[in-house]
Amino acid sequence: MKNQRILLIIGGGIAAYKALELIRRAQDRGYEVTVVMTKAAAQFVTPLSVSTLAKGKLYANLFDPHEEMDVGHIRLSRQADIVVVAPATADLMAKMSHGLADDLASATLLANDRPVLIAPGMNPKMWDHPATRRNRAQLVEDGVHFIGPMSGEMAEANEAGTGRMAEPAMILDAIDGLLGPLRHGPLSGKHVLITAGPTHEPIDPVRYIANRSSGKQGYAIAAAAHAAGADVTLVSGPVQLGAPDGVRLVTVETARQMKHAVVEALPADIAILCAAVADWRTTQEADKKQKKDGSGKPPILELTENPDILLYVSREAEPRPELVIGFAAETDHLIEHATAKRQRKGCDWLVANDVSQEGVMGGDTNAVHLIRDQGIDAWPKADKQAVADRLVEEIIQHFQ
Ligand code: CTP
Repeated sequence: MKNQRILLIIGGGIAAYKALELIRRAQDRGYEVTVVMTKAAAQFVTPLSVSTLAKGKLYANLFDPHEEMDVGHIRLSRQADIVVVAPATADLMAKMSHGLADDLASATLLANDRPVLIAPGMNPKMWDHPATRRNRAQLVEDGVHFIGPMSGEMAEANEAGTGRMAEPAMILDAIDGLLGPLRHGPLSGKHVLITAGPTHEPIDPVRYIANRSSGKQGYAIAAAAHAAGADVTLVSGPVQLGAPDGVRLVTVETARQMKHAVVEALPADIAILCAAVADWRTTQEADKKQKKDGSGKPPILELTENPDILLYVSREAEPRPELVIGFAAETDHLIEHATAKRQRKGCDWLVANDVSQEGVMGGDTNAVHLIRDQGIDAWPKADKQAVADRLVEEIIQHFQ
């Protein structure tokens, strides 16, 4: 299936450097990006770096627009699902609103019949100027979509106000929003529910029971599933990670909250339960900080078992996700324990990780075995994102 295509027009403003991040993140989300740079943009970001990121799909040279018409560059926009202008400078906005076409960027915009999203970025005085205001109003009337600009510090010293270009993630959310219903990829139309991270089980208001899970593996799977076009809900315990682009993130603290969030997020087509859920919580959470009583005797914590979320999703959820994948963190007898765990939990696939290996729990790499009806595959130790990509690849094949 073909990816959706963005034609990105980079204008000549200081925010042009952010276009590099925009290209990279757009590709991460599964978009194909073709770029047109204005001559001024090349003063701020090198065509070579843009071309490298855009895999050569860069049109930067300026020429006679009629000649362009002949070579077909003007058809660039017709091959795109959306045209995005970032940064949209005051100059480009003026050209767009007046229908000028004296360079490739403006000629492409004039010849375009696709949705247009612009991310203005300019000096606040330019943004506020009556001429720009008139152009803005005209563009809105012409059906152009805007994202930003934002308020706050500008690149120029001592300048504040509205004019800063929206961040790449915001621009991408706006693109997703405009193209959302058309979004495709091998997992498009599938809801993937993922749990990640540890849970924290409070002892009293200042202490809790936790584990070393970093959430990295689950977050990497969420990003990979989203890049494959899935609609992703990520239920996460407390971690130090930012939400992956385009993923619905629900943050929780305890196992019971995680189960509640999972129940709320169901139904799903695919459930990948990656979280290191604490097996036990204290039977009674103290509402005040537990103090030493001077006797030298530590308090005895009474523990209660937490709900088993994987067991619930595998055996009780109605409707059951078509594919339920569990994880197993083992320190010994990996295959034996993990195989038994898969039976016990009732999941379809089980990803077993050997957490006794250095760099696995909390680290950036993972060494896993994938246990399924058709057998056990040992995957070589790899980066957690590579493990995530491979797992998503297996899921795609499963649904083909
Ligand atoms: N899991 C869960 N809810 C729990 C405990 C575990 O959903 N309360 C899920 C994990 O997300 C993982 C799988 O079950 O997908 C296995 O987790 P693991 O901690 O390895 O197993 P345990 O259930 O704790 O079993 P054991 O104590 O035998 O290791």
